[in-house]
Amino acid sequence: MKILILGGDGYLGWPTAMNLTAHGHEVAVVDNYLRRNVCREEDCEPLYKVPNLKARVHQWARQSGYPMPVFIGDLCQWDFVETVFRAFEPEAIVHYAEQPSAPYSMLNRRAATLTIKNNLDVTANVIFAVREFSPQAHIVKLGTMGEYGTPNIDIEEGWLDIKHKGRRHKFLYPRQAGSLYHTTKIMDTDLLWFYVRMWDLRVTDLMQGPVYGIHTDETEGNAQLLPFFNYDELFGTVVNRFIVQAVADYPLTVFGKGGQTRGYLNIKDTLQCVRLSLEKPADPGELRIFNQFVETFSVNELAQRVKDAGDLFGLNVQIKSIENPRKEAEDHYYNPAHTGLLELGLKPNYLSQDVLGKMIEKVLQHKSSINRDAIFRGVKWA
Ligand SMILES: NC(=O)c1ccc[n+]([C@@H]2O[C@H](COP(=O)([O-])OP(=O)(O)OC[C@H]3O[C@@H](n4cnc5c(N)ncnc54)[C@H](O)[C@@H]3O)[C@@H](O)[C@H]2O)c1
Repeated sequence: MKILILGGDGYLGWPTAMNLTAHGHEVAVVDNYLRRNVCREEDCEPLYKVPNLKARVHQWARQSGYPMPVFIGDLCQWDFVETVFRAFEPEAIVHYAEQPSAPYSMLNRRAATLTIKNNLDVTANVIFAVREFSPQAHIVKLGTMGEYGTPNIDIEEGWLDIKHKGRRHKFLYPRQAGSLYHTTKIMDTDLLWFYVRMWDLRVTDLMQGPVYGIHTDETEGNAQLLPFFNYDELFGTVVNRFIVQAVADYPLTVFGKGGQTRGYLNIKDTLQCVRLSLEKPADPGELRIFNQFVETFSVNELAQRVKDAGDLFGLNVQIKSIENPRKEAEDHYYNPAHTGLLELGLKPNYLSQDVLGKMIEKVLQHKSSINRDAIFRGVKWA
């Protein structure tokens, strides 16, 4: 299949690109280095240096024999989008190309408007480009479990059957996000659902939980191919942050009571979920939604697991509850469904002590590069 990966330089985009080529697909990658530029501006660079996208594509082609066209440019710009779609003629699109940080979106007005404009413009351009240049193409869009928020009822997989005054109707499951970033993801879903109804697009919207991990099958043996690894408050996801804090002898920062519960997955499972969705696509006129995570943890549980793993390495891991800079429920009901991807064939990689240990080993190699000032800055929600 010819697959266009939007955001192919990113934490998830780059490992996905390698993985899909290794599974026999023809892949092109697109990026404008927004993530790298924002990290530089905010002084929260990844733990280790990552070669630019063209250099990584070159490395991977030399190692694996799989070439990949690279397009560097801004997907908010229609002329660029048109050039890419005309040149590559994709049969499927993986849309990762967004500003993905909740704290960054809450930082200030500039960051907020960048997030709104970037995320909605890219999604709209993808929709228009598919309609104009590749109307049969399947869009696999990365959404987030954060779209649902933390309602006091079970979270279904995308949809909710409502019975009201004796009649029934199926609606998108109610969404109520806890950050501006997550709100842009809800708007993306609404845009996609509108154009699925209007234009019979075929779309899979993956409601992904926070991802952790560094290594994938394709990175083994070549450190130049590793994805970004951020551990700062803006771009580091919680498990990745806690691992670095454990290595840096920096008490694990639990926000408030620590009962915030979410669904998590290993980066290897992101690759599986995206590939399975591509290989068994949605039908024309279908918005297919999967909840993409494999297990749930509270922040307290994660902190304890990282502490236990750190103890095995002789690290002196402390856990510290600090005042919560965010506006969120710290203790809540959470029971989301997640059977769709398992039915497609997902084989989960769970958060074992072994997985945490391998991450600690890698981070220990880069201990001297850890910037302690980037770990916590307390971006306030209100
Ligand atoms: N990482 C997670 O834990 C997680 C969890 C849930 C959902 N997601 C979603 O998955 C997707 C990928 O996340 P990630 O962690 O890899 O983020 P990332 O920032 O590492 O990757 C996104 C990539 O898209 C690029 N990009 C952004 N705007 C662009 C534009 N206008 N034109 C061209 N390229 C652009 C960025 O430069 C970046 O390389 C995002 O949509 C994010 O919301 C991620």
